[in-house]
Amino acid sequence: MCRSFKRRLAPAKANGLAMKDHLIIFDTTLRDGEQSPGASMTQDEKVRIALALERLKVDVIEAGFPAASNGDWGSVQAVARAVRDSVVCGLARATENDITRAAEALKPARRMRIHTFIATSPIHMREKLRMEPDQVVEAAVKAVKLARRFTDDVEFSPEDAGRSEPDFLCRVLEAVIAAGATTVNIPDTVGYTLPHRFGALIKDLRARVPNSDKAVFSVHCHTALGLAVANSLSAVLNGARQVECTINGLGERAGNAALEEVVMAVRTRQDEFPCDTRIDAREIVNCSRLVSGVTGFPVQPNKAIVGANAFAHESGIHQDGVIKSRRTYEIMRAEDVGWSANKLVLGKHSGRAAFKKRLEELGHRFAADADLNEAFARFKELTDKKHEIYDEDLQALVTESTHARVDERVKLVSLEAMSKTGTKPVAQVSLIVDGERLDAKAMGDGPVDAVFSAIEQVVGSGAQLLLFSVNNITQGADAQGEVTVRLSRNGQIVNGQGADTDIVIASAKAYVNALNRLQVAPTLRQHPQHAAEAVGMP
Ligand code: KIV
Ligand code: ZN
Repeated sequence: MCRSFKRRLAPAKANGLAMKDHLIIFDTTLRDGEQSPGASMTQDEKVRIALALERLKVDVIEAGFPAASNGDWGSVQAVARAVRDSVVCGLARATENDITRAAEALKPARRMRIHTFIATSPIHMREKLRMEPDQVVEAAVKAVKLARRFTDDVEFSPEDAGRSEPDFLCRVLEAVIAAGATTVNIPDTVGYTLPHRFGALIKDLRARVPNSDKAVFSVHCHTALGLAVANSLSAVLNGARQVECTINGLGERAGNAALEEVVMAVRTRQDEFPCDTRIDAREIVNCSRLVSGVTGFPVQPNKAIVGANAFAHESGIHQDGVIKSRRTYEIMRAEDVGWSANKLVLGKHSGRAAFKKRLEELGHRFAADADLNEAFARFKELTDKKHEIYDEDLQALVTESTHARVDERVKLVSLEAMSKTGTKPVAQVSLIVDGERLDAKAMGDGPVDAVFSAIEQVVGSGAQLLLFSVNNITQGADAQGEVTVRLSRNGQIVNGQGADTDIVIASAKAYVNALNRLQVAPTLRQHPQHAAEAVGMP
């Protein structure tokens, strides 16, 4: 079935010069990224992120898993309507229902892709699917053929390929390519593989699958061992021409390969890579902030490319070197990935037009005048507390305004918190819950704990606090603090965010935001890989 032959990816030639291959960037922030516990996004938020990804010029946007829930179906459809340039993709298990649901949701897309998958590792076939290898091949082929009835652009993934038998992978890939798959994606679902092994696997598959030249080879790596980017790059060096990745490396468990790292590694090391992407890297920081703001997953300061310290030089020796020549310690320019050199943008006297213009430059468009007015009012409040307003402040402000639009059943009206050495902190809150004003007072181990207890006295959500984290948005003593609160109730996990120059107030806003999200977050959403009915086609 599989035959061995060597085939090199010969670069095309134009005017006698070797041309680089195109490396397709497939972003799955809205699908695999959303599978991160607590990272669920509303439809509006998904459309905002999709438009930011389009400005970034990603080739393919995986907008979601339409069969997961009506909410996911609606979000995929909304993204398909909004996006014009990038291909919009929907995930589907290898079942008739999933594929037709995906095709219906993707109908408005200018260019659509259906991505269907079934597991191929012995452990997944035996323990999860309870299917024989022959049945898996049959289901995969049937799924691809059905998907091809809706679109010419069909991707197939053998889930858990990193732990699958190479011979069986060859068999499945040959069969799905013959059935019409135009992209075959090799996922390291559990993040088990190592760079040299994964690169060798891609090379081997491309060489041994007889019709491998009829499909683009793609990779999709998870980072359980911190190797997703390294594994993806090793695959690219061995002929993969699509990388699946997410902004900030968001994703299932420890996450997926980070888009910004893959793109900048390939671009910075053009001496090594025979390909390049069409990504507009100047949009990277914006996208990163947007995804972090929407999901409530802060970016660690020492994160490559998008972390606050990625281009900061602290030691005297480094500073001295960079002043003399930035190339002594910098391999990329901060402005090339979207860090603005002049970060001070607006102040107390800035007007509505300047506010709107700067946000438009940052990629944010207001859907209605009312939204602009509401955000501008928040901006004015902020300028009373903080003299210098930076891009980061503006982004936090619009994120907060969008959060506020999440059906606000609970609103924070006022808050007073007292801490004094030697006494237990106490907080008093005033909330509006479903239109009714309610007050409560509570003590706590600290002022934030007291505030959360007081809010709970009023709301009685019974939610469990899983995470509380504070980040400063900009530098300086008057910087805004951005607080993330993660709550869980009945298996549902949500993140809430709040920003303020006062951290206790930011905490209260974040808690209230999380409570509002608990009300609206979908409860009956299937997980594409964990769902029990992830079996072959009926
Ligand atoms: O990690 C994985 O295997 C996936 C597939 C659905 C591609 O996300
Ligand atoms: Zn995945």
